[in-house]
Amino acid sequence: MKDFKDKVAFITGGGSGVGLGQAKVFGREGCRVVIADVREDHVEAGLSQLKAEGIACHGVKLDITDRDAYARAADETEKVFGPVELLFNTAGVNIFTPLEVCTYDDYDWIMGVNFDGVVNGVQTFVPRMIRNGKGGYIVNTASLAAFLAAGIAGIYSASKFAVLGLSESMRQSYAPHNIGVSVLCPANVKSNISEAMFTRPKRFASTGYKFDDAMLDALRKVHAAGMEPEELAAHTLEAMKNDQFYIIPYPEARAGLRAHFDAIIDSLPPEDSDLEGQAKREKALLEYRDAMMARR
Ligand code: NAI
Repeated sequence: MKDFKDKVAFITGGGSGVGLGQAKVFGREGCRVVIADVREDHVEAGLSQLKAEGIACHGVKLDITDRDAYARAADETEKVFGPVELLFNTAGVNIFTPLEVCTYDDYDWIMGVNFDGVVNGVQTFVPRMIRNGKGGYIVNTASLAAFLAAGIAGIYSASKFAVLGLSESMRQSYAPHNIGVSVLCPANVKSNISEAMFTRPKRFASTGYKFDDAMLDALRKVHAAGMEPEELAAHTLEAMKNDQFYIIPYPEARAGLRAHFDAIIDSLPPEDSDLEGQAKREKALLEYRDAMMARR
């Protein structure tokens, strides 16, 4: 996608951090921007910053796990600005807790926001984009944790692996509809994600997460050293212009990713082993693919 002028961009988590950076950068490109966020104070603060720059913007208080509310937010957006062509599935939450003390509520909250929230965005907007017939672009925010899982952030990593897998599939599935897809995998961003537990709904109150002010301070310090959200959004804009799938603008990620993928490749048997089995499996898959194509 080269031209962003007048495009309508819907950004979840748009009131803070990564999402607000996207709102500013794409707003400056001429997009009309909707910021959707579960925190009303974030929506208000975000809107006032965008308006101060003269960016055409609208705010919606939305919990992305609520499908009915999501559909209403999409209707409202269309009424205010018209059909959405750019969707940024950015909102996400995290807690750093050893997996063995995590509760079902921990799983349901984090997977609900980080993965189901993306699903809900896609299910809400992709049929509308297809009906609109003008194509579009979707950026899903995963994380470097979508490749490199840490024991202390197991649910978060699982949710981001899921976002990565869905994104790869979306890129293939939506290409015929001229809807581009990229996956954004930040390492550390200057944001308010250390405050994520303040958005945790009461229905998911049971947690193994031991939280105190010292932990909050320590996390704030980590994220204070993160990449500026606007810088991250500028990388995202460039990637979209180049139809680049992976957006990982962190040079320090190279060694970890190389070790990760080398370990996977090194675990495989040699390419020239089990030739008979390879041929049999490939033939079965091709026959299945041809049978499915014939049914289309
Ligand atoms: P942030 O906390 O500054 O912004 C996230 C926004 O999402 C907040 O305004 C929050 O109110 C909103 N939100 C939370 N739950 C929501 C829900 N159910 N419905 C709607 N909005 C909701 O955090 P940040 O860092 O900007 O996070 C954005 C994305 O970036 C997340 O997906 C996160 O996992 C990802 N990320 C962040 C990294 C970092 O170092 N900050 C690193 C890697 C990925």
